[in-house]
Amino acid sequence: MSLVDEVNNRRTFAIISHPDAGKTTLTEKLLLYGGAIHLAGSVKARKTTKHAVSDWMEIEKQRGISVTSSVLQFDYEGHHINILDTPGHQDFSEDTYRTLMAADSAVMLIDVAKGVEAQTKKLFRVCRERGIPIFTFVNKIDHFGRNPFELMDELEQILGIHAYPMNWPIGINGSYQGIYDRTNASIELFEKDTSHGQHKLASTKGAADDPVFKTLLEDDVHQSLIDDIELLDEAGDTLDMEKIKNGQLTPMFFGSAMTNFGVKPFLEKFLEMAPKPQPRTCQEGIIEPTADQFTSFVFKIQANMNPQHHDRIVFMRICSGTFERGMSVTHRQSGKILRLMQPQQFLATERTIIDDAYPGDIIGVFDNGTMGVGDTLYSGKKKVTFKDFPTFPPELFARIRAKDSMKRKQFLKGMTQLAQEGAVQIYENLGSMESYIVGAVGQLQFEVLEYRLKHEYGVDLEMNTLPFTVARWIQTNGHDYKDLKNIDSAMLAKDHKQRVVLLIANEWQTNWIIERNPDFTFCTTPDELTLDPQEE
Ligand code: G4P
Repeated sequence: MSLVDEVNNRRTFAIISHPDAGKTTLTEKLLLYGGAIHLAGSVKARKTTKHAVSDWMEIEKQRGISVTSSVLQFDYEGHHINILDTPGHQDFSEDTYRTLMAADSAVMLIDVAKGVEAQTKKLFRVCRERGIPIFTFVNKIDHFGRNPFELMDELEQILGIHAYPMNWPIGINGSYQGIYDRTNASIELFEKDTSHGQHKLASTKGAADDPVFKTLLEDDVHQSLIDDIELLDEAGDTLDMEKIKNGQLTPMFFGSAMTNFGVKPFLEKFLEMAPKPQPRTCQEGIIEPTADQFTSFVFKIQANMNPQHHDRIVFMRICSGTFERGMSVTHRQSGKILRLMQPQQFLATERTIIDDAYPGDIIGVFDNGTMGVGDTLYSGKKKVTFKDFPTFPPELFARIRAKDSMKRKQFLKGMTQLAQEGAVQIYENLGSMESYIVGAVGQLQFEVLEYRLKHEYGVDLEMNTLPFTVARWIQTNGHDYKDLKNIDSAMLAKDHKQRVVLLIANEWQTNWIIERNPDFTFCTTPDELTLDPQEE
């Protein structure tokens, strides 16, 4: 197959949702339809297999949540699909945001009874900033839920996006019997399923005005469907692919991941409409996915996936060209030539070694500490530098040290590796020797740090929360940071790239300090610094 065909076949997307909306269930069902698994782990079986699908780490199993983002791959009718699993937990980390950088589109999963929830909002915002197409799947329509028109209105009011329903649930107040497909004006009724969606469902298909449906549906259900569709056709948005591409209009699907209602129609329509790998912007210009040159960027690093081996796996998204096992590439940031041996792809917890991979694919390679998140790798001579990943300012801070001072070496090693992985941000207090501060976007990151340092590095942590909520990177503009005034209540520190950062109690204090230091620039993230010491 040619590179153009490989690119055309690929779909790389992330599923974003609030916890419990059904992301694990939907992912499982997509894998089921793709033939990657044969029995979805519903009902009882699910209790034992649930975590086998996308959770890797022990802490995830214990808490029953997904902490790390994982990647799942499967084929469906000629398409090669990469699903990036973003953790939906309230206390999520930068990892989630970074994963979205590797996706070409997103599926926003919404619980029909709950509508748009807090976490959905946050993740939606990141997708919107990236300008990627967002597809909506309204889940759990087997349950009593909200009126579909009300949900459309909520998307518009809360997220500011118009929805175009691709299909419409048939039934009133949660007693759904199937789906009306608006693109080909046909009805699909699902047979009662006694296996709780463990197997694929049988269905009856036909045009909406097919007399058979009049006999199958009760009069008021049939009439309500006809009225709803009329209203949508007359008053709703038109299906504008350009608006969808720019993330201004979201195609909306209804279904139930648990009972398989509407999962297959969704998957098929999604694959038809979702974008193939798109051109990417780098500092040197635009990279077309079909270019000969191999380019990729690192979006995630995970150390100790296998605690016995202390391995460190770097996940990269291929942006252009063909990847071949054992190929030599340039690591842009260090200038080193690296041979990518043993490239891995992931299906659930299984890893397979692959021989080649194409734009849109995610591969994992072993690394001994050379690569960092956001780094670029490329083949050939032409330099390529993908832009730095956005850094998200931490809002929680704690001072940490090893309980046992004899474990100092392991403590430093563990912290450095976890900071490189992007699990947390580490700062060193400029005011006192060897005093380390950890910054996080959510409380869970602290717990993960504590757990991982103990289990992977054998270090018990002592952690004291600090009263700061704001970090500002200081651009000195030729001055000395020691001349900063009125910062007694704040703490001066440096980040892992030796950039000076001020930790401050709250926004009010921040503004107060900024006003008193007009010679300095206070940046919300290090990306805003114009004098980056890393720059050539
Ligand atoms: P998450 O990954 O987004 O957190 O959600 P997950 O798939 O774990 O689903 C959360 C709960 O919602 C699960 O129930 C799951 O069975 C249920 N669920 C998912 N999709 C549907 C659906 O289409 N309809 C209905 N009615 N429920 C759905 P649980 O009781 O927490 O877990 P379990 O006992 O089913 O494993």
